[in-house]
Amino acid sequence: MGFGYRSKIFLLLAQVLLLVVVTLAKTEVQSLSTYSKIISSSSNSSVSSSLRGRKVGRGVGARGRGRGRGIGRGRGLLGCDLYKGRWVVDTSYPLYAASSCPFIDSEFDCLKHGRSDTQYLKYAWKPDTCNLPRFDGLDLLNKWRGKKVMFVGDSLSLNQWESLACLLHASVPDAKTTFLHRDILTSLAFQDYNATIYLYRTPYLVDIVKQSIGRVLRLDSINGGDTWKDMDVLVFNSWHWWTHTGNMQPFDYIQDGSTISKDMDRLAAYYKGMSTWGKWVDLNVNPSKTKVFFQGISPTHYMGKEWGSSSRNCYGELQPVEGSSYPTGLPEAQVVLNKVLSSIKKPVTLLDVTTLSQLRKDAHPSTYGDTGVDCSHWCVPGLPDTWNQLMYASFLN
Ligand SMILES: *[C@@H]1O[C@H](CO)[C@@H](O)[C@H](O)[C@H]1NC(C)=O
Ligand SMILES: *[C@@H]1O[C@H](CO)[C@@H](O)[C@H](O)[C@H]1NC(C)=O
Repeated sequence: MGFGYRSKIFLLLAQVLLLVVVTLAKTEVQSLSTYSKIISSSSNSSVSSSLRGRKVGRGVGARGRGRGRGIGRGRGLLGCDLYKGRWVVDTSYPLYAASSCPFIDSEFDCLKHGRSDTQYLKYAWKPDTCNLPRFDGLDLLNKWRGKKVMFVGDSLSLNQWESLACLLHASVPDAKTTFLHRDILTSLAFQDYNATIYLYRTPYLVDIVKQSIGRVLRLDSINGGDTWKDMDVLVFNSWHWWTHTGNMQPFDYIQDGSTISKDMDRLAAYYKGMSTWGKWVDLNVNPSKTKVFFQGISPTHYMGKEWGSSSRNCYGELQPVEGSSYPTGLPEAQVVLNKVLSSIKKPVTLLDVTTLSQLRKDAHPSTYGDTGVDCSHWCVPGLPDTWNQLMYASFLN
């Protein structure tokens, strides 16, 4: 018995897992198409159509002129649009060695898991009309002297936080650091610079509250925000968990105003939750002290047909998509997010990583992470280093 029996169970488990993944993917597609209808019927069509064309609030120039005055895309650098470009081979990459960074979690450590095709480490983002400034961690730590920087969100925030920790560490390898991890808050202090980068885990930004009926996702409540108030830099992100259902869903009900329901359209829920976050920003952020970023929607690669492949997911992908656009365009969630951002009055910089990340079907852990085929997170070193380079660029003005 022994082995044969076990391998049967394994096969069965693998089939169940596949079924779950396929179902999740289908659910997502369905709720996305439902929401595009809601968007085009009930919302301001001029706003959503111009957001589709990505014209709203691009760059500093759009600020203070009516709608979307809050959004900047971290342009600067003589008006160059850092987010329009393509991936080019650069043999000087990666910016640090995985083995020298003590802050990489196993789930992102693709090299540790034996990923042997290393070309994915050799791509640099090349904006069309300028060069992306090279990351200078020493300069950033000096700019951040006496400051607190906090990433707030889900595991994609963790992904970017770890990359930043590695990039900074690689710039000042001998600097004293203090790493603390407790519950939902992680921090890394660079003592010589009196600068700390925090990570606050909250996948929905809004609250999940235990009530007598069960766990309730409260679209209009954001008490976690009390912890974020004292920061000098805030980098928010939320999306992936909004699509989770079944065992992956950490709540039993959704509360929207006074209405409590078992479920609702997830993009509509996302819109409401992010609007609550937007109101929090308007009420609590002092722009002369705190710079606010939102990390754009981080794309997944679970549908090969999106990039014209017959493969089921990112497994075996060794190269980025060529050129500067992704066949399916912006994910609906980004359209919803843009709509929320354009209604915020305080300045918020969109770290507009969506398109450039959509091109990187090769940059996920795939089978070189902790579980199954992960086409949702990113290897570190890897793509999130570019997200941090883009964030760094917005501190150069
Ligand atoms: C659409 O825009 C108009 C004019 O800017 C405004 O009066 C109206 O309330 C908006 N509608 C919605 C649904 O946001
Ligand atoms: C370190 O930074 C904090 C603010 O984050 C400040 O209150 C404190 O005075 C600074 N300490 C030193 C030694 O500069």
